[in-house]
Amino acid sequence: MPATERFTTTGKPIRHDSAHLHVTGKAHYTDDIPLPANTLHIAFGTSRIAHGHIAALDLSAVVSAPGVVRVFTAADVPGDNNYSPAHDDPIFADDLVQYIGQPIFAVAATSYEAARRAAQRAGIDYSPLPAILDIRSALVAESYVLPSKTLRRGNPEQALAQAERRLQGSIEMGGQDHFYLEGQVAVAIPQDHGGVLVHSSTQHPSEIQHMVGRALGKQAHDVVIQCRRMGGGFGGKESQPALFACAAAIVATATGRPAKLRIDRDTDMIMTGKRHDFLAEYDVGFDANGRIQALDLMLASRCGYSADLSAPVNDRAMFHADNAYYLEHVNIVSHRCKTHTVSNTAFRGFGGPQGMMAIEAVIDDIARHLGKDPLTVRRLNYYGIDERNVTPYGMPIEDNILNLITDQLVSSSDYLARRQAIAKFNAQSPVVKRGIALTPLKFGISFTATQFNQAGALIHVYTDGTILLNHGGTEMGQGLFTKVAQVVASEFGLPLAKVRVSATDTSKVPNTSATAASSGSDLNGKAAQAAAVAIRERLIAFASDYYNVPADAVCFHDGNVTIGRQTISFTELVQQAYHARISLSSTGYYRTPKIHYDQTTLTGRPFLYFAYGAAVTEVAIDTLTGEHRMLRVDVLHDVGQSINPALDIGQIEGGFLQGAGWLTCEELWWDSKGELKTHAPSTYKIPAIGDWPSDARIRLLQDSPNRENTIFRSKAVGEPPFMLAYSVFYALRDAVGAAAGPAAATALQAPATPEAVLRALMACETSAEPGEAAEVAV
Ligand code: MTE
Ligand code: MOS
Repeated sequence: MPATERFTTTGKPIRHDSAHLHVTGKAHYTDDIPLPANTLHIAFGTSRIAHGHIAALDLSAVVSAPGVVRVFTAADVPGDNNYSPAHDDPIFADDLVQYIGQPIFAVAATSYEAARRAAQRAGIDYSPLPAILDIRSALVAESYVLPSKTLRRGNPEQALAQAERRLQGSIEMGGQDHFYLEGQVAVAIPQDHGGVLVHSSTQHPSEIQHMVGRALGKQAHDVVIQCRRMGGGFGGKESQPALFACAAAIVATATGRPAKLRIDRDTDMIMTGKRHDFLAEYDVGFDANGRIQALDLMLASRCGYSADLSAPVNDRAMFHADNAYYLEHVNIVSHRCKTHTVSNTAFRGFGGPQGMMAIEAVIDDIARHLGKDPLTVRRLNYYGIDERNVTPYGMPIEDNILNLITDQLVSSSDYLARRQAIAKFNAQSPVVKRGIALTPLKFGISFTATQFNQAGALIHVYTDGTILLNHGGTEMGQGLFTKVAQVVASEFGLPLAKVRVSATDTSKVPNTSATAASSGSDLNGKAAQAAAVAIRERLIAFASDYYNVPADAVCFHDGNVTIGRQTISFTELVQQAYHARISLSSTGYYRTPKIHYDQTTLTGRPFLYFAYGAAVTEVAIDTLTGEHRMLRVDVLHDVGQSINPALDIGQIEGGFLQGAGWLTCEELWWDSKGELKTHAPSTYKIPAIGDWPSDARIRLLQDSPNRENTIFRSKAVGEPPFMLAYSVFYALRDAVGAAAGPAAATALQAPATPEAVLRALMACETSAEPGEAAEVAV
């Protein structure tokens, strides 16, 4: 008999455990925590110049402002005035300021309004220095925040020289603000021995714990970080929350009063790092059919003034510069540009989207150059199954399902017929033009920083038969807590309602990794499973002894336990075990197998496996205004054997639309002084419900369990679907090409805002024959 019958919870489309709380406003976020009496409120005073020295700092008017209790500068930090593991992010700028919005001091006052008003009264004199603000200027000045890296294979120079055809080009892609609905926030409450409890909206409680401890001059065991949920993180709460947690903790420990720091939307957008914008330049050699023979690719990203997570973000960009395509002779150079702008950070896909976007542009350019359907050229370059199947970093692809997915999607989306219909439509429509694109994705799952690929969990079974689960992962809306609870409920054969997940807490599960790299359920699901199995094994051993049956005659199902020929409730067995003094609590631990890689040569097996997917999007553009719309999207995405199809579809829809936002409407704009001017929803446009295509067909790939031994053979889903949005961008190129020819299509850069579409349409005078259709894919 199996120890459990897993029909209870996994594999079912169960709603997010807090869905009803989210939509009724009853979910508790950090801002909703009832504050103790005496709580202080904090606001930052920040730099108004992009680069320079602070010549004079006069805070007397701030100190004397109404409600102000104390003002804090670098001199008031008891420990280390820094909030980053790379040690290059001062909490308070001391002498040098390096971006507009950099914190210089903090005001603690009796109300939030008082703190904000007072912060405006500072007298700061600067001696400005020249500022480098964008990628191109940084490249000219060789201004780098980290050393450049190269990944190469074969002999790209020779292969380029011998290639049948050759093309050079470039693509620019903008950054992206996280626009989590809940902004950065921390509440710090003083504890015994100078310690502190910080409620932080963070994806990475353990890192916050260490940064707060270091800033206070305290040890890790003096600091507890808690987070029940975030109102979205998207990577923006991996490293960034440390600044806010440190400042709140400094104020709380110095004053002995609770301290809260919650910034408003504008301040958040100005002060916190974003997705790296990238410039990619390439030189590609290919044959007459469009198969790539050699590629020389330069990736340059705007990192901002400090390292933050730019090293792993740019590494991941390099690791994904192949996307779905085999590159035999390849040279990829990555420049990590230092600019006097806010330090850029993790954002869904973590550099992968930018690297993959580069190769997608190369392929699209080749296809338009040859007058072929880009899908034909894409498929010609797909990784093979037994040959042409090793990535530039030396990892063989063992589970290639690119063609399987593409075949299914071409057929279910009716791609070929629709391409012809679109050509017909365009031939008779002078102003509105349509376009279509099918793009694939392959995304590596695991942290490239190998040590992060571990997780812990803690499970308590109470004597009333309910379970409290804690694990190192954090909940940001993605449904991690629900999935891990499903795993635990399944292992005990219990209904989901018997399992409650408590807030992530560094004092319960230590040394956790960030909930990032989409690995939350892979890691914490396995760790929680290990804890559950440990307790279940104890219960089985007890039952077998107590009822005198063999161990394999004990089975957990439906909230009951069948022991030999009798069935009792789970609660009854738990109570019997308690009376027999059996421990009903356990930790669990997991580390990802098989992975390794060499940081210097960038070779090895950085990923346990790949997630795959593809999307077809059809768009329409108005050639007079540049406005555009998605008409239909078809997605086929691989989540292995889904733990929860409802949550997985939600992640796919959200990821796709967030990716579409990055590539079509979200535009960050800095003025010539380095001031971000798009720092509110009035000037920064994220997709809204009205942007969702009226015809959307989102499907999970069926019957494709993960080949690797992941939790219930599922695959990570948090980030990969973001890259489905390439289909939107390349469909826009297709429509632009239909209106103004291939050169106009390839002139389109990201984000493809209406202005960008107009610029591309006007980029070249030569207009294509109406209805000129590309060669049709097979
Ligand atoms: N989904 C929601 N609703 N909110 C988020 O903040 N973050 C994304 C993704 N999906 C996010 C989200 C990012 S950047 C990552 S890395 C993963 O969720 C993290 O969670 P997971 O590892 O549990 O998938
Ligand atoms: Mo996600 S960018 O790895 O937090």
